[in-house]
Amino acid sequence: MTSAASFPDVELALIGGQQPFVLEELQSRFKIHSVYAEANPFAALERIGGSIRGAVGHGMAGLTRRHIELMPKLEICALNGVGLETSDLPAIRERGIKLTTTPVLFDDVADLAVSLALSCCRQIPLADRFVRSQQWENERLPLGRKLTGTRVGILGLGRIGIEVARRLEAFKTQIFYADPIKREDVPYTHVTDAGTLASTVDIFFLCAAGNPKGAPPMIGRTIFDALGPRGIFINIARGWLVDEPELIKALQEKRLGAAGLDVFYDEPMVPPALRALDNVVLTPHIASSTEETMRAMGACVIDNLVSWFSGRGALTSVT
Ligand code: 8YV
Repeated sequence: MTSAASFPDVELALIGGQQPFVLEELQSRFKIHSVYAEANPFAALERIGGSIRGAVGHGMAGLTRRHIELMPKLEICALNGVGLETSDLPAIRERGIKLTTTPVLFDDVADLAVSLALSCCRQIPLADRFVRSQQWENERLPLGRKLTGTRVGILGLGRIGIEVARRLEAFKTQIFYADPIKREDVPYTHVTDAGTLASTVDIFFLCAAGNPKGAPPMIGRTIFDALGPRGIFINIARGWLVDEPELIKALQEKRLGAAGLDVFYDEPMVPPALRALDNVVLTPHIASSTEETMRAMGACVIDNLVSWFSGRGALTSVT
């Protein structure tokens, strides 16, 4: 963190939970109201919102129009994450509020995406259970699949997608991507849409920025069927971008080979039918959850707020 400056008179509303060390830092520098933890956060904001100058959320807990209406003096909202789909950007821009994110997590997210792909190919969780349960003493684990040399597809070649691609180069893969923007600065093959991507590749990485929950899912049955019984689907973006019941059906019926999922429609609730499958690898939305990156993200939140309230402007703002 850049400075030890503190602003005891500046009141901040936490609209999303934070790691304990981030909370401690915030509390040592600002006057904090943990409204997200109240039974009714909006009722809490009705009481105290008038004196709030800053808010802190995260990638899954953004700044909504209702928040903004209840905090007339809000100047800045620091999100501990990069997801913007739970924030109301038009409302934020209308009021001239600064919204900052933590663009320091792309490596970790890409590391997890590739880990999930390797785990699916080499059946690592299944193999682990096989050893622990002593099944190995009586039988052999079915053969896994090779990742090196496969055709891989990335939907969304943004800052996460590009890091996934760079890592996959080391696995001698052929890399395809679908993105509204065709990039001239990358050696990967651009295709026009998700369907073409799915019918071209063995492993499909969903790295696209999220639509808000409730929008029609961008990935459904046609994508799973195009990937086919040997296809592998990886999601480190958002669960609601995918038609989850169709994903489960495709995996149950083996129309889709396997899936590696860090995100789910209704986190932390994961459907029992998905949990029961052997051809999935499931992680609890941990793509950015390393000590190093969580510390860097926390520092980014604090630095933005300190810089702003010191009159030096926000550091990593998106509005
Ligand atoms: C976080 C994320 O886990 O940045 C995001 O959008 O999804 C993750 O990095 C999330 O912000 C919850 O803290």
